Amino acid sequence: MENSGLQYLPNPTDPQLERSPNQELLPLTARVNSQNRLEIGGCDVAQLVDQFGSPLYILDETTVRTACRQYRDALKKYYPGESLVLYASKAWNCLALCALVASEGLGIDVVSGGELYTALEAGVSPDRLYLHGNYKSRSELQLAIENGCTVVADNWLDLNNLVELSSERSPKAPIPVMVRFTPGIECHTHEYIRTGHLDSKFGFDPNQLDEVFSFLAGQPSLSGNGIHAHIGSQIFELQPHQDLAAVLAETVGKASQYGLNITEVNVGGGLGIRYTEADDPPSIEAWVSAIAKSLADACRGKNLPLPKLLCEPGRSIVGPACVTAYTVGPRKEIPDLRTYISVDGGMSDNPRPITYQSVYRVVVANRMADPLAETVTVAGKHCESGDIVVKDARLPANCRVGDILVVMGTGAYNYSMASNYNRLPRPSAVLVGDGESHIILERETYSDLIRQDRLPNQLRPDSP
Ligand code: LLP
Repeated sequence: MENSGLQYLPNPTDPQLERSPNQELLPLTARVNSQNRLEIGGCDVAQLVDQFGSPLYILDETTVRTACRQYRDALKKYYPGESLVLYASKAWNCLALCALVASEGLGIDVVSGGELYTALEAGVSPDRLYLHGNYKSRSELQLAIENGCTVVADNWLDLNNLVELSSERSPKAPIPVMVRFTPGIECHTHEYIRTGHLDSKFGFDPNQLDEVFSFLAGQPSLSGNGIHAHIGSQIFELQPHQDLAAVLAETVGKASQYGLNITEVNVGGGLGIRYTEADDPPSIEAWVSAIAKSLADACRGKNLPLPKLLCEPGRSIVGPACVTAYTVGPRKEIPDLRTYISVDGGMSDNPRPITYQSVYRVVVANRMADPLAETVTVAGKHCESGDIVVKDARLPANCRVGDILVVMGTGAYNYSMASNYNRLPRPSAVLVGDGESHIILERETYSDLIRQDRLPNQLRPDSP
């Protein structure tokens, strides 16, 4: 078992022990059936591919719900004040996921008009929607304001636009505004996904906060009731988050000197997940408890009333809940060098390896108990040498054309960053649970690919 795909199954030794989804490689419902085949949510993965085509994103409902519930319950357990979990939908925003997390009592963090529109269309209550972003167009701000969402102001242009827009609207209830700033906290993650250090494009510099708070205090049209900071993503350390809570409490104190009543503090997201056996992230409960205690202690130490604690995890909610299934194609053996097997997707459905050198683990869904007997490099089908899905993967011997290869932990920042590079249609996604599967994203068709194309008259084949 150590030397087969079975080693990746969740909790092989103690099924009673509830681990966080972010500490597992496969979704919580992953099992292997008597035919040696992988099942997720009670559905046979290879059969799902038969039915819905390949490649296919397979999203496990139980894993998403468990992660949401663990965040919610831990906040209740460790934070004496009110709290709200926002799902950072940049990780994967679509109607079904917005509705799913909302049904677990979560709000949603959106970063564009498109994400906001999707969440609204999914029926998410606007008072649980928070609009982020370092560039918000006026129409994006307008959409948020009209619907009564909270705006997380990132810069002076946001604040000035909000004041102007508020004067155009009726009735003139103040617009709920949070202030985002860079907390000046370093953490160990890929440089592209670090945001808390001072040299960051996001949020106000801490030096500007006095001016910002004094401005907000004099603006009856804006209700400056919250502050926000986020330090980065795929973080395994707890200390930077604890430091962040202390910085936030300090900042609540500063705002109160200007007469602002900060009732909401948002600590951002960032909890890492297990992509390989080498990754050992803290549990959701450990992350929440560290932050909650440190914020509560820091507020008590300053005699501040406890604000409502918001956090906005993305990756740890949806990342471990999904796998991507591909179909194996040609094999190329270069003697004494490397064996490649190509699959029917790649950097268009998962741009993370080529963008961040991310490492994934892979199993063969129809041969789960076969010994891992060879090392091969799984290549994507794009016309680019760097389009490698998994380098040096350990797989059963002689992977054959038609085998179903499953890459784990693909729920976060895969579909949301997918492209049509080389004009590949985006794959479908199915939601699985209790032996049922439901399409949540249709596979794009060739006609979808040319839907936005326009052929000027002079270029038409029948033009003179
Ligand atoms: N809140 C803010 C303000 C954020 O910028 C982010 C992520 C989150 C919350 C959610 O962080 P999470 O819990 O997912 O770590 N595309 C990159 C990740 C970019 C993260 C951007 N911000 C990747 O594929 O690794």
